[in-house]
Amino acid sequence: MELRVRVDSDLCTGHGRCYALAPDVFESDEYGYCRIPEEVVTGALVDQARIGAKNCPEDAITVEEL
Ligand code: F3S
Repeated sequence: MELRVRVDSDLCTGHGRCYALAPDVFESDEYGYCRIPEEVVTGALVDQARIGAKNCPEDAITVEEL
């Protein structure tokens, strides 16, 4: 299974829960906003991507099954 993970930079306000809970999928940029280095994830990173999406208070993260 593969997922495509995206962050809507207009919605992200820098809560940081995504990269705190799932640091292998999400990173912080220099201002604390979410950055996703690899948009397509597999294996254990699938669960991490979903956890990050579920825990963003702004619903800025979306995941799509490929
Ligand atoms: Fe942004 Fe949501 Fe992460 S607001 S920093 S995408 S928890």
